[in-house]
Amino acid sequence: MSALGRHLLSIDDLGRSGIEGLLEIAASFAEVVTRDIPKVPALKGRMVATLFAESSTRTRSSFETAAKRLSADVLSLTTVASSMAKGESVKDTVRTLRAIGADALVVRHPAEGVPVQVARWTEASVVNAGDGCHEHPTQALLDCFTLQRHFGGGAGGGGGQGFLEGARVAIVGDILHSRVARSCTKAFVSLGARVTLAGPKTLLPTFAGEWPAELSCELEPVLYETDVLYLLRMQRERGAGVFVPSEREFAHLYGIDERRLGMLAGKAVIMHPGPVNRGVEMTSAVADSDRSLALDQVHNGVAVRMAVLYLLVAGGGAVGKEADGGPAIGAPGFPGADR
Ligand code: NCD
Repeated sequence: MSALGRHLLSIDDLGRSGIEGLLEIAASFAEVVTRDIPKVPALKGRMVATLFAESSTRTRSSFETAAKRLSADVLSLTTVASSMAKGESVKDTVRTLRAIGADALVVRHPAEGVPVQVARWTEASVVNAGDGCHEHPTQALLDCFTLQRHFGGGAGGGGGQGFLEGARVAIVGDILHSRVARSCTKAFVSLGARVTLAGPKTLLPTFAGEWPAELSCELEPVLYETDVLYLLRMQRERGAGVFVPSEREFAHLYGIDERRLGMLAGKAVIMHPGPVNRGVEMTSAVADSDRSLALDQVHNGVAVRMAVLYLLVAGGGAVGKEADGGPAIGAPGFPGADR
C-alpha cells in the first residue's frame, strides 16, 4: 500500500518527502496528458465517485478528468441532483456509493471534518476536495507543482527539489475562511518557503500562533518582498462580507491593480485558486496578464489529481512520510510502463 495511506484528508498526510514524491509522479502524468491519446489504463475497472455538496467548476471537473485519464469509471453526485436533496444523510449516500462499487470517494462539503467522518464509514479511499474553512490538500499540491514547473531552478535560489527553499510567499485576502490558505501555508512552509498572510485584521486567523506564518495587515510593504503573490477570493457564502465594511474598500486596500503589480519583483508571479472576483482581489488587467499562473494551476491540477488517485487506488508505491524507497515507477499502468 502507498505510504500516502488509504486517504488524503489533510496536507499533513504527506510530509515534505511525501509532497516531493507525489510531485515526481505528477510530472510523469503531466507527460501523459500531452500525448495524442492522453490516457493510461492504471485504474481500469476501478470506480471513482465525486460527492460534491458545494458548487465547483475546477475541482470537480479536474478530478473527473483525472479519473477518466486513468481509465477509471466515474460516478458524479451533487447535492441538488441526488437524494441528499430529499434529506438522505451523508452516511447513507456514502454507503450507497460503496455498494455500487466506488473504490475512491472525492468529497467536498461545507462542514469541516466531513471527509474525515466519511473515511470512517467506508472501505473506499477518501480524498478531501475541500471541507468548509478547513483544508483543500489537492489545491495545495497542484500549487506546489505549478511553482515547481514555473521556477524549476528555484524561486528562492534553491535548485531541484528545493524550488521553494527561501522563497517568499504572500497569501492575501480572506484567510480566515480559506481552506486553501491553510493547506497552502503548510505545504509551502514544509517545502522551505517563508509565508506571510496579509489582509484586514478581521480576516486573519485569530490564533496567529497556530499558523507557521507571519501576519500583516499592510499589503504594500509585503509586495516588495514577495516572489509568489497568492490571492484569495472573499468567501461570501461563508459570511466574509460582514468582516469588511465593503468589497470596494477591500479592493482599495488589498486588491491588485497595475500600480501594485509594479511593486512586485520582476520574476514574481500571481496565483489564484479560482474563481476570481474580478475587480475585487485583482483587476481584469492583472488577472489576464502574463504574471498570472491561474490557468497553469487549473491545467496542472489534472496531473496532480491523477497522481493522488493512482497512489490511493492502485497503491502506486511509498511516497508518504514513512517512505524509505522511491515510488513504484514502472508498476503496471504507470506512465511509460504501458505505452
Ligand atoms: C477554492 C475552494 O473551493 O476552496 N476553489 C477551488 O477549489 N479551486 C477557493 C474558492 O472557492 O475561493
